[in-house]
Amino acid sequence: MQTVLLLMVSYLAGAIPFSYIFAHWFLDIDIREEGSGNVGSTNVLRTAGKQVALASFTGDVLKGILAAWLGMHFGGELLAALCSVAAVIGHCWPVYLGFKGGKGVATSAGIVLYLFPQGALISLVIFIIVVAISRYVSLGSILVAALLPFWMALYHKPLAILVMGAVMAGLVIFKHWENIKRLLSGSEMKIGKTTE
Ligand code: G3P
Repeated sequence: MQTVLLLMVSYLAGAIPFSYIFAHWFLDIDIREEGSGNVGSTNVLRTAGKQVALASFTGDVLKGILAAWLGMHFGGELLAALCSVAAVIGHCWPVYLGFKGGKGVATSAGIVLYLFPQGALISLVIFIIVVAISRYVSLGSILVAALLPFWMALYHKPLAILVMGAVMAGLVIFKHWENIKRLLSGSEMKIGKTTE
C-alpha cells in the first residue's frame, strides 16, 4: 500500500508542469503554443527568457530529486528506481495538462544528481560540450540520455538503478522523436533562436 502511495505521489509531483506554470505566471503565455511547443525549460528559455527558464529547470530538477529521495528513504534502491521512473512518466505525460508534457530531461537530471552524482557531473560536462559545439539542446539531451546506462554500468550501480537509467534514457529519447527527425532534416532550432 505504501509503495502504491509513493508511486502516486512521485507521479503527481513529476507531473507538476513548472514550465507551463511559470511561463503562464510571469509572462501570461501558454508555453504549449510557443517555440517548439514543449513544456520544458529549453522552450521556456527560447520563448520566456533566462530567469523563467531557470525557475522552470529548478522546479523540474527538484521534483526528480524528491521522487528519488522518497523512494530511497522509504524503501531503498528498487523503490527509488520505481519512484524515479514514475516522476519522469509524470513529467512526460502529466495528468494536469491532458497527458501532454515535456521530455523528461531536467527531471531525470534531478534523479541522477541524487542517485548518481558522478554520473550527473559526467553528463553535465558532455551536455555542455555537445551544446556548445552544436547549439542543439536536444542533441545534448539525447546523447547524455543514451550514455547514462553506460556510465551506470561503469560505476557498478545496482541493477535496479541500471534498469531505471535504461528506462529513463528510453523515455527521454522516445520523447525526442520529433527533435531527432528535425535534427536529421536540418530544421531543428538552435539555442538562442526562435526559428531554425
Ligand atoms: O529538454 C528538452 C530539449 O532537449 C529539447 O527541447 O524545446 O528544443 O524540443 P525543445
